[in-house]
Amino acid sequence: MKSIATLILLAGGAAGQQSAYGQCGGINYSGPTSCVAGYACTSWNPYYYQCVPGTATPTPTPTSHTSTAVTTTSTSKSTSSTKTSTVSTKTTSSSTTGPTATGFAKTNGLLFEIDGVTKYFAGTNCYWCGFLTSNGDVDHVFADMAAAGFKVVRVWGFNDVNTIPLTGTVWYQYLSASGSQINTGEYGLQRLDYVVSSAAAHGLKLIINFVNNWNDYGGINAYVNAFGGNASTWYTNTAAQAQYQKYIEAVVSRYKDSTAVFAWELANEPRCSGCDGSVIYNWAATTSRYIKSLDPNHMVTMGDEGFGPLAGGDGSYPYQTGAGGYTWVDNLNISTLDFGTLHLYPDSWGQPYSWGDLWISTHGAACVNANKPCILEEYGGGNNCTVENPWQATALGTKGIAGDMFWQYGDTLPSCNCQTSQDGNTVYYNQGNWDCMVTQHVAAINAS
Ligand SMILES: *[C@@H]1O[C@H](CO)[C@@H](O)[C@H](O)[C@H]1NC(C)=O
Ligand SMILES: *[C@@H]1O[C@H](CO)[C@@H](O)[C@H](O)[C@H]1NC(C)=O
Ligand SMILES: *[C@@H]1O[C@H](CO)[C@@H](O)[C@H](O)[C@H]1NC(C)=O
Ligand SMILES: *[C@@H]1O[C@H](CO)[C@@H](O)[C@H](O)[C@H]1NC(C)=O
Repeated sequence: MKSIATLILLAGGAAGQQSAYGQCGGINYSGPTSCVAGYACTSWNPYYYQCVPGTATPTPTPTSHTSTAVTTTSTSKSTSSTKTSTVSTKTTSSSTTGPTATGFAKTNGLLFEIDGVTKYFAGTNCYWCGFLTSNGDVDHVFADMAAAGFKVVRVWGFNDVNTIPLTGTVWYQYLSASGSQINTGEYGLQRLDYVVSSAAAHGLKLIINFVNNWNDYGGINAYVNAFGGNASTWYTNTAAQAQYQKYIEAVVSRYKDSTAVFAWELANEPRCSGCDGSVIYNWAATTSRYIKSLDPNHMVTMGDEGFGPLAGGDGSYPYQTGAGGYTWVDNLNISTLDFGTLHLYPDSWGQPYSWGDLWISTHGAACVNANKPCILEEYGGGNNCTVENPWQATALGTKGIAGDMFWQYGDTLPSCNCQTSQDGNTVYYNQGNWDCMVTQHVAAINAS
């Protein structure tokens, strides 16, 4: 069933009035500055004012706000490995006091400068943050993350479907050869809008990516279903790439002035099975150049796992070109990619856990050579501090590695008093291995 009713609802209000959750002010912003009825223009930071529920006069109060979730509804999402359901309820967010943003995050030599501070950072992954339907849940998660000392959070900026779900289920893009649609509605990109505004209010920076290599939340497979070819020809399929760029433009244009965006990311773990390395190289060069043309202020990165031959490597499977269909170190040369990413899952790659230190140090050396910082952007060793603490220490001590972000963050959502997805690598806030995986690591970073 392909209904576009939800899209039409969203099209916005009267001329001159910004629609719900739209931007309504900020440095160099030139659109409408008043909001449709029931919404008040609120300043998150000097670059981004947003129409949020409320009727207060638009007096900017950058560090506190009140929000209400749209309707009481429920949504469930499932992936091959996880199942989570959330129920949104009317909630009121608490005041937040994040650090004041001082500008766009950027590279500074082999590290990143974030809000004026150049230092190694700790972060985490929250693929589901943009799929929560309760604003209060988003605020709760980001308040906990900020309290933990994280600086950067990676969220899925995609949610592709080939069939439009019933209202109440979050989706961002419907893909079809006979007419794709980008959902800017309340169960569409407005969910991501809230994530960006809440991140800004909590002093967190986001890595936002545009497509999944895997089938969870659609991915390249959803484009293949719509436009033909296969996962390897996707990178050069004209119709698929045109729609991918259209989607990128839709997302980037919403947040290009927000200092809460750390970087745009081309994909989650792109691979091109059986391909010459030039396929992903050319796609990454073209796409990153396109993003820079839309938004010169934010950083851009690949989001890949880091495969391919590397000086100092042991020639094992992850160090072979065939693992990802690319040579990671070659892609580091692309001038419109500001930094490199690597992921680390030795058990999925047939390697012993202790091999992880070599993986981190060989990548770090290549980042030094390329004079670009790199992020250990995902890592998982079965939620085991004995396994993962050495990786964290190696990453922190390796020149060229500028931050690490474990997979994955977990929390208890207030709307349902339920826990977020456990996939075997989830570390829940203030529970279980939290102290040895997070508290001690953040303390070690602060002391460094
Ligand atoms: C605002 O616009 C002016 C003029 O185009 C430009 O010089 C300035 O850098 C812009 N500021 C920001 C924060 O983008
Ligand atoms: C994808 O399609 C191309 C062109 O038909 C073919 O050469 C290639 O083997 C296919 N790759 C995969 C992984 O199926
Ligand atoms: C990347 O840069 C290095 C160092 O300048 C050079 O040796 C290498 O050939 C370049 N690779 C590509 C694919 O351009
Ligand atoms: C954690 O990893 C270590 C080293 O591989 C192993 O000896 C230990 O049994 C693991 N602990 C748990 C709880 O799985």
